[in-house]
Amino acid sequence: MCGIVGYIGKAPAAPILLDGLKKLEYRGYDSAGVAVLHEGKLSVVRKKGRVKELEGCLEPTGSVGIGHTRWATHGEPSERNAHPHVYGKFAVVHNGILENYHALKRECEERGEEFLSETDSETVAHLLSFYYEGDALSALQKTTARLKGSYALAVLCTDHPDSLFLAREKSPLIAGVGEEGLYAASDVPALAGKCHLLYSLSDGELAELTRKSLRFFRGGEEIEKLPLCVETMGDIPEKGGYAHYMRKEMGEIGSAIANSLVDFASEERFFDFNRVLCQTEYIQIVACGTAYHSGIAAKYAIESLARIPVDVTVASEYRYCDPIIRAGTLVIAVSQSGETADTIAAARLAKERGATVAAVTNVPYSSLTEISDFVLETRAGREIGVAATKSFNAQLALLYSLAAELARTRGRGGNFQALRLIPALSERVLSEAEGIKNFALGIAGAKSAYFIGRGADYCAALEGSLKLKEISYLPSEGYPAGELKHGTLALIEKGTPVVAILTQSALAEKTMNSVSEVYARGGKVLLVTSLPEYTDRKEVEESILLPRCEEVFSPILSVIPLQMLAYYTALARGNDPDKPRNLAKSVTVE
Ligand code: M6R
Repeated sequence: MCGIVGYIGKAPAAPILLDGLKKLEYRGYDSAGVAVLHEGKLSVVRKKGRVKELEGCLEPTGSVGIGHTRWATHGEPSERNAHPHVYGKFAVVHNGILENYHALKRECEERGEEFLSETDSETVAHLLSFYYEGDALSALQKTTARLKGSYALAVLCTDHPDSLFLAREKSPLIAGVGEEGLYAASDVPALAGKCHLLYSLSDGELAELTRKSLRFFRGGEEIEKLPLCVETMGDIPEKGGYAHYMRKEMGEIGSAIANSLVDFASEERFFDFNRVLCQTEYIQIVACGTAYHSGIAAKYAIESLARIPVDVTVASEYRYCDPIIRAGTLVIAVSQSGETADTIAAARLAKERGATVAAVTNVPYSSLTEISDFVLETRAGREIGVAATKSFNAQLALLYSLAAELARTRGRGGNFQALRLIPALSERVLSEAEGIKNFALGIAGAKSAYFIGRGADYCAALEGSLKLKEISYLPSEGYPAGELKHGTLALIEKGTPVVAILTQSALAEKTMNSVSEVYARGGKVLLVTSLPEYTDRKEVEESILLPRCEEVFSPILSVIPLQMLAYYTALARGNDPDKPRNLAKSVTVE
């Protein structure tokens, strides 16, 4: 959340910063700003709204600068809360949350300093001024020593027109070297095409970028760092003729699944991991949002195929439930971005308690991979839409491969054959799923919507509901079908849309009982099913017929029409599905 960029070099800074911010806009888009240092003066422009608001307002000269695109944590989205924040000789952009900023701010105010924003970040500019005695790097060192929480910082000082300073603690920050100069950004794509060398700062590290050199420091000492080896993530992709990234990324589900299926047994890179799998007696999965739903789908698959117990915990709660790690516990942290602060904190805790931690992530150089014992990479390709789509299908492909491998090592067969059929089946579902448009138009004016399913279908219900609420802003809930009658049924009235997912043949009649209960109260039912015998039932207003697959793997297919439903409902309600309000792609604050 929040994207930061920096540049120092031969070229005018403003267009480079603007370009970088546009590429980082998926991290936050409620306000943006840029500071350029030229002839000892800071020129700062900040705007409420998206990065494009800065266009035409920036200082054309000056070849050193910093920029920011914000996702508000402290203080409403507004111009005065937008970054950079300036105090004295310093301009600062910040991504993260400073947990002790109240105390620090009070300290500054007691010295008579005036604050112009409601942000935690402004405190950094004040502390830098306080500690500054002519050496900006040393002031940054002293300032960061006072900060608690998470930060990626880029700093300018008017006394040092040939330097740009960086610091990182628990928020991602990359420095890069290119032909035209040196760069900084929250994420690699902002620097794609500009740099031939990229370095990821680790927690506790500082950097000074000058026009000619890049130096890293830890604990006041200069350190050597190795460049990143980034093969997989290039520039931000184009929309490729689609109106939105979300729809384009749904079109890539088939390849995301195919590329993320893994044959653990035959690939040499998994040799050590396979040994861990053989000794695993208990699995804990930690994740947030959509990735948490992948964890639930994995639980159904692993428990049913391999008979190994699995617990799935929302990462932000894992830390507070005092997790028990015993010998043979494997903790799997699932995160598309690998930068989700809650998931990283949960993985760290699991490691501290002695667990082996495997990261399932789409970004192999992310913070999560740094702290994990094993990295299982989903190969969905970069996902720009804030609503996760293809990355979810890719996570399921990988986690189902894992379930199959665990089953194989326990002599229970593996169902790999069934997995290999899924990419082609997903293409079929995708073309059928377009038919959901009508239902989407029909529910666009509803007050709320419900998703129900039993067994593995429950996971699809959860994900369908999350998708719908996050981009259409229609209140919605995903429920185990059998639980509906224990309270939520009270909310069903004439015309309430209910999406029932029905792919588990042994549970079908039971779920249809729940559908009948909904119908009896006037609910309008969309059935997403692989069981054709149910599509003609009188209770069903519309249906989408899925191809059959191994039933425990069915969420990987049944979620596709639900993603499509969310997409078309969002459009019908006039929303931008790529940038839902209040959300950001990468949630780097706890
Ligand atoms: O990058 P991660 O997979 O760790 O992100 C976790 C959630 O923030 C993410 O899945 C979020 O729920 C999506 N916006 C859902 O579409």
